[in-house]
Amino acid sequence: MRLLCLSLLGALLLLAQDQPIPYSHKTHLKMGLKCNECHTMPGKGEAATFPAESKCMTCHTAIKKESKHIQLLAEYAARKEPVPWVRVYKLPGFVWFSHKVHTAVVDCAQCHGNVAESEVIKKEKPITMNACMACHDEHKAPNECNFCHNPA
Ligand code: HEC
Ligand code: HEC
Ligand code: HEC
Ligand code: HEC
Ligand code: HEC
Repeated sequence: MRLLCLSLLGALLLLAQDQPIPYSHKTHLKMGLKCNECHTMPGKGEAATFPAESKCMTCHTAIKKESKHIQLLAEYAARKEPVPWVRVYKLPGFVWFSHKVHTAVVDCAQCHGNVAESEVIKKEKPITMNACMACHDEHKAPNECNFCHNPA
């Protein structure tokens, strides 16, 4: 019983400490920040990328600097080291995907759900092969194997 309680407690702690710093999209998007201010899509736009810590520090050198979470953020920023965010959406390496191509035709919400209302990002939408193919069917986009695996 005691062991069970301890392991349940452990699981809860793990859930609560999902990310190294409890960043909330809801809090920040309420201020009118736009997705692409933090998630730039450089080059060919395969990745949506994570913001540089210096971007956060434009506000947090002054805002909430007494918070232990902001102090941790400031330490990463001072070391010019990225915060080790835990990935929520991640494809295996053998799948080709481009953010730039998709965001030209569909919204972020189609694949990531209602991020603007989320305190903590969880996987709201599947990124399985079936999910990709269903949407390609719907939009009459190709579904040949090589389209997503080893494209020319
Ligand atoms: C102020 C900067 C900022 C803005 C604005 C912002 N994000 Fe984020 N986003 C982050 C940070 C930091 C993380 C990593 C922490 C986390 O997962 O919550 C993240 C993580 C994510 C992830 C999880 C990616 C993964 O695989 O781990 C998604 C999806 C995402 N953001 C979508 C959005 C969308 C959609 C918008 C606009 C509605 C948006 N973000 C606006 C900073 C931002
Ligand atoms: C068609 C579906 C789709 C759309 C639309 C989409 N994403 Fe993603 N997103 C994904 C997939 C799939 C991944 C995992 C990519 C990987 O691991 O290579 C991902 C990963 C991410 C990540 C993690 C970092 C990265 O680039 O791998 C962030 C941040 C993110 N998306 C933000 C956004 C934002 C912001 C938008 C809107 C501007 C958006 N996404 C639109 C499917 C989508
Ligand atoms: C436009 C200014 C602005 C930017 C940019 C910004 N924040 Fe914030 N952040 C705020 C404000 C305002 C609050 C809410 C303060 C409050 O609760 O009174 C906040 C709250 C937080 C908190 C909660 C702190 C606590 O202990 O209550 C964290 C963590 C945080 N931000 C992390 C980040 C991260 C990480 C980034 C960069 C990805 C970032 N912020 C970018 C303005 C900003
Ligand atoms: C919400 C609908 C939707 C989802 C979900 C979706 N796609 Fe797409 N995808 C499209 C559309 C529409 C196009 C065609 C865009 C165009 O014609 O410019 C496309 C185009 C592509 C392309 C071609 C890129 C290029 O360079 O032209 C690839 C590769 C691709 N998708 C892979 C994926 C993968 C992998 C997933 C799942 C992780 C996925 N897609 C999920 C709608 C979607
Ligand atoms: C629209 C994009 C897309 C197309 C088209 C596509 N795949 Fe996939 N495929 C994926 C994604 C995404 C994954 C990774 C799924 C995951 O990790 O859940 C995947 C995974 C796989 C895997 C690994 C095993 C598995 O199920 O996870 C194999 C094998 C595979 N695909 C074969 C094929 C074949 C054969 C075709 C043609 C009939 C094809 N794929 C067409 C997106 C696609």
